[in-house]
Amino acid sequence: MTQAIIQFPRGFLWGTATSAHQVEGNNTNNNWWAWEQQAGHIDNGDKSGLACDWWGGRWKEDLDRAVETGQNAHRFSIEWSRIQPAPDQWDESALERYRAMLRGMLERGLTPMVTLHHFTNPIWLEEQGGWENDDTPQKFAAFVRKAVQALKEYVSYWVTINEPNTYAVAAYKAGEFPPGKKSMSAYLHSSINLVRAHAMAYRIIHEIQPEARVGLSMNYRSFFPATSSPLDKLVAGIQAAFFNDVFPKAAQDGKVRFLYRTINIPEAAGTQDFLGVAYYTRDRVSFDLASGAAMFGRRHFPKDADLSTNGFLANEPEGFHEALKWGLQFNVPMIVTENGIEDTDDKVRPRFIAQHIRQLWSAVNYNWPIKGYFHWSLVDNFEWERGWAQCFGLWGLDVETQARIRRNSVDLFADICKHNGLSSSMVEKYCPEVLQKIFPD
Ligand code: BGC
Repeated sequence: MTQAIIQFPRGFLWGTATSAHQVEGNNTNNNWWAWEQQAGHIDNGDKSGLACDWWGGRWKEDLDRAVETGQNAHRFSIEWSRIQPAPDQWDESALERYRAMLRGMLERGLTPMVTLHHFTNPIWLEEQGGWENDDTPQKFAAFVRKAVQALKEYVSYWVTINEPNTYAVAAYKAGEFPPGKKSMSAYLHSSINLVRAHAMAYRIIHEIQPEARVGLSMNYRSFFPATSSPLDKLVAGIQAAFFNDVFPKAAQDGKVRFLYRTINIPEAAGTQDFLGVAYYTRDRVSFDLASGAAMFGRRHFPKDADLSTNGFLANEPEGFHEALKWGLQFNVPMIVTENGIEDTDDKVRPRFIAQHIRQLWSAVNYNWPIKGYFHWSLVDNFEWERGWAQCFGLWGLDVETQARIRRNSVDLFADICKHNGLSSSMVEKYCPEVLQKIFPD
């Protein structure tokens, strides 16, 4: 077959994404560290421990890997509990460490994107009630002011809060993240405070750095009716409105729409310069009276789904197209802030990458304003309540020895980044089984 190539616009950002607690190690001052010490919270009793030892300096070798494999950007997060270990204490040396990391990215030609909150809180904040405390947005704002002042010369893309939808659900409604609450009212309350915090952070960043680009990273999950029955459609629509829409709509028009009520937060209107889209998978949703807690929508993967190692995700590239189409309604540029799969043996990942890049290209080709793609993740890292069992890295990690293990997907992603596109010969080489799907004769 003649080689076919799909190409991305010049200047497209290609990178990987990480987060502080998942890669740094020894984050002893945050709520996750404390949570990990208590039995029953993390699968297999795993602990983040040294993680990928980025705080010990291994960020350098990992960023070398990123740049040697053609990446031109990196998304990471800074850890609030390091910068403000106590309410009245700022740790300038932690800020200096982040400045060094940012210089390291720029010296390597990696455009940084910095997330200010990625699922963790300082222990002192958690003890004051975390995101259920109405003073928390103000405290977050003070941290943002301090961090942005210190780092602004190196950063132009800021994500205020990573996946506030995932965070509010997991921490306050599903009980999977600390503080482990299972309460609808705690979920609503914390969501409102997350919106307020985002709005404050947006304004502070622009006050300090008017030219900055500021946004949220949203976890878009595709909820697809399992059948054409109106009841399946209804419950799938409810799940989508509940999980996907609340935060970016609030950042657009200042209205937080929960299923049965709307709360006005006018200062949140117009607070996104870009939309971060994190997409992993699509659920089928069936109406089910027994699924009351899930608003009568039972979520499942189809029987023949292309599943990840632990069955946690299914490879569903059409849902990625849907995610990007959904993002258009917010009328701002989009950046894919996360996309990836847990796949220890790298069996599914090559086709997952190729098929998702194909969807991304068709969206770019419709002229949808998409500026970059960050794969989750660079190296296997601490997967929250799932511990070390799920391997999302292009590189694997031996947690005992800190050795990095190069997976085949490294070379596929490197080819994509270096060529700013995907070709049929790459697909033939790394995942021939999907050649006809991606480049039909
Ligand atoms: C989170 C990451 C996490 C990834 C894979 C995303 O929702 O932002 O922190 O590692 O999912 O589970």
